[in-house]
Amino acid sequence: MNRIFSGMQPTRQLHLGNYLGAAKNWVALQNDYECIFCVVDLHALTIDHDPETLRNNTREVAAAYIACGIDPARNVLFNQSAVAGHAELNWIFACHTPLGWLNRMTQFKEKAGKQRDNAVLGLYSYPTLMAADILLYHATHVPVGEDQKQHIELARDIAGAFNRYYGKDYFTLPDPVIQGEATRIMSLRDGTKKMSKSDESDYSRINLADDADTIALKVRKAKTDPEPLPETVEDLEKRPEADNLVTILAALTDRTRADVLRDHAGSQFSAFKAVLVDVAVAKLSPISAEMNRLMADKGEIDRILKHGAERATAIAEKTISQVKDIVGLLRV
Ligand code: TYM
Repeated sequence: MNRIFSGMQPTRQLHLGNYLGAAKNWVALQNDYECIFCVVDLHALTIDHDPETLRNNTREVAAAYIACGIDPARNVLFNQSAVAGHAELNWIFACHTPLGWLNRMTQFKEKAGKQRDNAVLGLYSYPTLMAADILLYHATHVPVGEDQKQHIELARDIAGAFNRYYGKDYFTLPDPVIQGEATRIMSLRDGTKKMSKSDESDYSRINLADDADTIALKVRKAKTDPEPLPETVEDLEKRPEADNLVTILAALTDRTRADVLRDHAGSQFSAFKAVLVDVAVAKLSPISAEMNRLMADKGEIDRILKHGAERATAIAEKTISQVKDIVGLLRV
């Protein structure tokens, strides 16, 4: 059986990178896989947070999944902290993960920055919790953006180490699914930096909740270079900001960058940006309208998450019982 697990952190608002790099692919994959989509609220505790905002963001991310086209009746949709198995398996993996593996994680280095000694333990051990998320459900495939590849490789390493230690082929080694034109959307202010929730400039990203005027303003202000658009992808790749905007249009319209260049080679950015604004507004406005509609009935979102958590718990409890038996924890 092929099973997908993936998730997003409810830290600040979801942006175009989260949509094009992940959610849009999830919507396509839900037809071919059994899918478990999680709002990873335990991961959100690894950075500064306000409790009430975190609760609200958790519901908002769930609303965004549904607004993007995830069907909560067909897929399991829940928040991580509602299923105890994530934290339990995290501890067991923490006891099987050499520090050297965690020291290699680039995301920790980026997030902790120069304040390494002040970074919390949870930020450092974040990847073992992510491995627990995936392996708890024996997921075979994990659709994510490119930035998560290293974490999924670590999840495979942990699964392999566990299986070898106990001499059992117990955990499935998950495959990352990193597909489409938009595996790494860059900041609108700097084409060499990833579009990110944590960038202090809101002009660096388009949020899923932005209205049409805000989207238009952000696209118009996006950094570009003075040349018209080139004819080939090879030439485009030498120009990070131009490449990013062409990639965004390609991904929003389900085409390749080469297709976009066929239509727009020689265009000035003023004309190209006008097309991009129209497409971005047409594709994203229905999502933000649907998110607002769903957020008006928080009770309904909570019902969906509760039902999802019950379904997830049924799978997770089985794994946890088996893991306890394998590692030698007494179950009385
Ligand atoms: P998070 O919340 O940072 O991002 C959610 C998803 O969006 C993708 N993404 C991007 N894709 C393209 N361009 C970008 N600029 C961009 N920014 C973000 C991410 O790759 C991700 O797929 N650690 C994860 C959450 C997580 C998880 C998991 C994912 C926890 N447990 C288990 C998969 C499986 C994270 O922080 O994603």
